[in-house]
Amino acid sequence: MTAGKPAYYITTPIYYVNDDPHIGHAYTTLACDVLARFKRLDGFNVCFLTGTDEHGQKVEKSAAVAGVDPQSFTDRVSQNFRDLSQLLNFSNDDFIRTTEERHKVSCQALWRKLVAAGDIYLGSYAGWYAVRDEAYYAESELTDGPNGAKIAPSGAECEWVEEESYFFRLSSWGERLQKFYDDNPDFILPPSRRNEVVSFVKGGLKDLSISRTTFSWGIPVPDAPGHIMYVWLDALTNYITAVGFPDEQSESFRTFWPADVHMVGKDILRFHAVYWPAFLMAAGVAPPKRVYAHGWWTIEGEKMSKSLRNALVPAELVATYGLDQVRYFLLREVPFGNDGDFSHKAMVGRMNYDLANQFGNLAQRVLSMIAKNCDGRVPQPGELEAADEALLRAATALLQELRDEFDRQQFHGALTKTWEVVGAANRFIDHAAPWTLKKTDPARMATVLYVLADTIRRLAILCQAVMPDAMAAMLGQLSVDPAARDFAALESRLVPGTALPAPQPIFPRFVEEEAPGVREGA
Ligand code: MSP
Repeated sequence: MTAGKPAYYITTPIYYVNDDPHIGHAYTTLACDVLARFKRLDGFNVCFLTGTDEHGQKVEKSAAVAGVDPQSFTDRVSQNFRDLSQLLNFSNDDFIRTTEERHKVSCQALWRKLVAAGDIYLGSYAGWYAVRDEAYYAESELTDGPNGAKIAPSGAECEWVEEESYFFRLSSWGERLQKFYDDNPDFILPPSRRNEVVSFVKGGLKDLSISRTTFSWGIPVPDAPGHIMYVWLDALTNYITAVGFPDEQSESFRTFWPADVHMVGKDILRFHAVYWPAFLMAAGVAPPKRVYAHGWWTIEGEKMSKSLRNALVPAELVATYGLDQVRYFLLREVPFGNDGDFSHKAMVGRMNYDLANQFGNLAQRVLSMIAKNCDGRVPQPGELEAADEALLRAATALLQELRDEFDRQQFHGALTKTWEVVGAANRFIDHAAPWTLKKTDPARMATVLYVLADTIRRLAILCQAVMPDAMAAMLGQLSVDPAARDFAALESRLVPGTALPAPQPIFPRFVEEEAPGVREGA
């Protein structure tokens, strides 16, 4: 049932298949997954897209090293990213591969539109190119590395390229881009990243080489034998391919385009916030509504790299700490947009304190008291006191606060606010002391436990986007009907007398001795 629901389209970058998925990739997709789930629970018709970026010199070279043709190579490695979705419980609605026919058709149609608009011309490129970044660099941006190598600001080694090439007239789009940024102040978030992009564009734009002739692993340029499309033009186009481009009248395109959020890492912001809106505007297609650039993770203070062999493997993390614990940690630990460090100590701290002690223990205390003292059924409340009403109201009012945080991709803010209510519920139980009321005032004890159980239900509903499995278990312990777990259910209440299953702890504590060697390789 999607009719009448507002649409929400969110995308991850598509991942290069030369690399094994690591925590950096998992992070970008996780952020999108949480937003997608939150919006679905809030009644939106969501399209959540991820996929793999399979063309270009970098992938062609990796295939050659692996001794296979690029298509077999990408078929194999792309699967690793689908497996990542399974492992981390990502709820993407589609998975696009740039080697699919639908994408070739889409890229060629976009190219033709750019030609028709007069924004493409034939010239020749002579300059520096970094295969690792699949990016062109001006001489002035480079530094000297060992053995005369030229090094890009990203650390990638550049090579000199000279070839016939089609160019996109990016230089003529500077003013229109600046106007677009002015008219849409939240197009690029966080604001610090926006400022970077605005000053880059103000500094003047050069025309962009958008075809290559010295290798062949890419989408052919229409009517131009020997030319394949620059991999970034090909890759960016995935966002419109997936919703039906070039059929701009299709229901999916009309429903979902322009995208609500392209989530990207800070390293690839320029492609998304400068080149992509320029291509689209030139083709007469609306630009996306937002590009959000998040920061990078280091591991125990060190940059992740294959050579250091310390890139945390998502499967290992999940096996060590638990899936929802990792999901929670990644979004809670670092303000979204900043760089962050993954350390075993910080992970265990969040897992044991926020999850086990604060939230898990709250649920455990309430549910076991109900099991023991209320015949294992949702207790019958008496008249509510002001403090009861206040706690229930705080849990319900959280929804609007979370909407505001999620709409600006402030996951840590959303979780901090949620944990304020978890804290309030813990203070409430300590103050009301139902274990004492058991003897002195059993009716009041029933009311207190009811209020707490319903507060936990509300918190669990609101936390489902971040921790879907753990919250499903918690809602199961409260016998909440799976059909009554979306945000509309925040308005309802637990039905007194409902039988509850025997309570089970939801968030285990991490005990060091039980996991020897966890930090090895981290
Ligand atoms: N293929 C391009 C994207 C094309 S989108 C039209 C690409 N792929 S990538 O696989 O290299 O990177 C994908 C994402 O992973 C980027 O958003 C990047 O920022 C993110 N990360 C890679 N390493 C990371 C960390 N160490 N930490 C956080 N995110 C990181 O770029």
